[in-house]
Amino acid sequence: MKQAVAFTLNGKRRSLAVDSERPLIWVLRGDLGLTGAKFGCGAGICGACTVLVGGQPVRSCATRIGEVAGKRVLTIEGLEKNGKLHPLQEAFVRERAFQCGFCTSGMILSAYAILLKTQSPSPAEIVRQMDDNLCRCGSHLRIVRAVQAAAGLMRGGGR
Ligand code: FES
Ligand code: FES
Repeated sequence: MKQAVAFTLNGKRRSLAVDSERPLIWVLRGDLGLTGAKFGCGAGICGACTVLVGGQPVRSCATRIGEVAGKRVLTIEGLEKNGKLHPLQEAFVRERAFQCGFCTSGMILSAYAILLKTQSPSPAEIVRQMDDNLCRCGSHLRIVRAVQAAAGLMRGGGR
């Protein structure tokens, strides 16, 4: 049965009439047209569907829309500001930290959650905290480099 679910999506208040059991990924992709979160395993394993809820990475395939009521949801579409890419996005491009790109939005959002907590994560910290985000293209070393480069940009005054 549909009910009103209100939450903040990429900084804007939203209220949707939706089945509260509907997976968040299908609300984002299907109902709202935000296709940055990718559907990979559908079982909470690969991390391709990662978004942030209250600043924490969650699997949107394994999260019901009702669970985000009253919370802040950030998708990859919410990272750029005024047409300017976030330093993490810039660093991923500059370091060529992807091949097919299927894992990339989830990787960037997981990295963003790290950088919300620490300004200078070590490579080991990045690996440990992003270990559950899988990349089938083997871009891991470049991803770690990109996260460190973005951390440097942000320490230097980027957002
Ligand atoms: S699609 Fe959600 S974790 Fe794989
Ligand atoms: S770049 Fe292809 S899955 Fe990571």
